[in-house]
Amino acid sequence: MLYIGVDLGTSAVKLLLMDGAGKILKIVSREYPISFPRPGWSEQRPEDWLRETVTGIRELTADCDRSAVTGIGCGGQMHGLVVLDRDDRVLRPAILWNDGRTAEETQWLNTAVGRDKLSAWTANIAFAGFTAPKLLWMKKHEPELFAQIDKIMLPKDYINYMLTGVHCSDVSDASGMLLFDVAHKRWSREMLDICGVREEQMAQIFESYAPVGTLKPEMAKALDLPAGVTVCAGAGDNAAAAVGTGTVGEGGCNISLGTSGTLFISSRDFRVDSHNALHAFAHADGSYHLMGCMLSAASCNKWWMDGIVGTADYAAEQAPITADTLGRSHVFFLPYLMGERSPINDTNARGTFVGLTMDTTRADMTQAVMEGVAFAIRDSLEVARSLGIVLKKSRICGGGAKSPLWRTMFANICDLELERIESEEGPGYGGAMLAAVACGEYPTVQRAADALVRVTETVTPDPALRDRYQERYAAFRRIYPALKEVFPLLNG
Ligand code: XUL
Repeated sequence: MLYIGVDLGTSAVKLLLMDGAGKILKIVSREYPISFPRPGWSEQRPEDWLRETVTGIRELTADCDRSAVTGIGCGGQMHGLVVLDRDDRVLRPAILWNDGRTAEETQWLNTAVGRDKLSAWTANIAFAGFTAPKLLWMKKHEPELFAQIDKIMLPKDYINYMLTGVHCSDVSDASGMLLFDVAHKRWSREMLDICGVREEQMAQIFESYAPVGTLKPEMAKALDLPAGVTVCAGAGDNAAAAVGTGTVGEGGCNISLGTSGTLFISSRDFRVDSHNALHAFAHADGSYHLMGCMLSAASCNKWWMDGIVGTADYAAEQAPITADTLGRSHVFFLPYLMGERSPINDTNARGTFVGLTMDTTRADMTQAVMEGVAFAIRDSLEVARSLGIVLKKSRICGGGAKSPLWRTMFANICDLELERIESEEGPGYGGAMLAAVACGEYPTVQRAADALVRVTETVTPDPALRDRYQERYAAFRRIYPALKEVFPLLNG
C-alpha cells in the first residue's frame, strides 16, 4: 500500500510517496507565491495551494502503480484564515500565520476580554497570527465579506475539503485558532460568540489520524487515483513534523527549522504554560503538546543569503565560520523580521544587528544571523525549563537542520543533544504516517513512530563551547528589552 504525505508550507507544497514500511519512494515540491500587501501582512491564495497540490500529486504518482495508493495525509501551515461563501467560493486571500495586521484585535482580546478568560476557554492567549483575531479584523475592516462567510477553515482543511467535500479539521490545527477548547477538544462557545461566528460555520473535528472521507469522484479523476483513497484529518505542520520525527508520547522534543522555527514538547497529559508564552495545543498522536514558535527562522538565513549577500552558495558563505569563531563573536542579530511570536509576542519587534565595528566581516554577520535564530529558540526553551520541564535532547528537522554548522550552534546554544532522523521531511512524512494509521497499516501513531522513525546522527554539546555560548546568550537576552520601546517608533 502507498501513502501520500502533503506538507502544505508557506513557500511550497512538498509531497512525498511512502510505502507501508516507511520507505520514501519519491518527493515532489511545487512553489506558489506569497504576497506582503503591507509591511507585516502576508497572504496566499488557497486556489494556488490546491492547484499545486493536485499537479504535485499527479507528478508524484506518475510512475507508480496508482491503484496501490491508499491514503493521503496533510500537514499544513497553521492558523491561516480561509473563508468560503455558500457556493464554496474563496472570499479573500488567506491571511497567514505570520501576518501581523491584528495587533489591535490581539491586544483587545488579551486586555478587554482578558488573558485569564482566554486561557481558561482555549488554553492560550491571543497572538497576532492566531485565527480568532483575524476574524475580528475581517469583521471590522471587511464587514460585507465577513457577512458572506459560510465556512471557516485552516489551510490544510481547505485542501481536505476540496479533496473529500467534508468540512473537517483536526485537533492539533484547530488548537491554534483561539476558537477551540483544547482541554475538551471542542469549539469554545465563548470564543465563537466573541468573534461573531456560529458553530455551523466551523469544521467538524477529528483526531489527526482519523479518516475523514474518500476522494470526491471528480477529484479522483483529476488526480487519476482510485476513488476509494482515504483522506485522513491530518495535522498542523508542527504536530505532523513531530509525528514524522517520532516526537510522540511523553517528554519528546523536536526543533523544526523551516520558514518558522518551533520548539515542540510532547506530553501525554494536557497542560498550560502558566506564563502563556508557549502554546498549549492538542497533538496529532491523540495527546497534547507545548510549543514555542518564532516567526522567522530559516527564512532569516534565506533573507540574508539570497536577498542581502546575493548568493545561492550558503556553504561557501559559511566556510569562514569555524570552531574558533563560534561563541566568540561580538555581533548579534535579533531575528524579528516579521515581528515575533514566542515568547515575546510583539508585532512591532524588528530584525536588528547589534555590535558592529569597523572590523566586522560579512562572515561575522552571517554567523550572527544563524546564532540569533538559535538564541531565539533558546528563549522558548528557557520558558519550558522554567516550568520544570527537563529537556536534555531533541530531534531536529526542516530545511535549516540540513546545515551541520547550524546543528552545532543549536546543540551548544540550547545545551541539547540533537538527533537527526533518517527522513528529514518532517510534516510530509508525518502526514503520510497519519494516513497509514488511518488506513489501518499501524494501530496507533506511537506504533507507527516506533516502527518507522530512525535516528541517524546525534550532535552532542561541547562543554567549552556550550559555556562560551552561555555568556553570549546572557548578552543576547538583554538586547530586546533594551530596544522594545524603540521598535514602535521605527514603525511610525
Ligand atoms: C506555528 C506556526 C508556524 C506555521 C508554519 O504556530 O505558526 O510554525 O505553522 O507553517
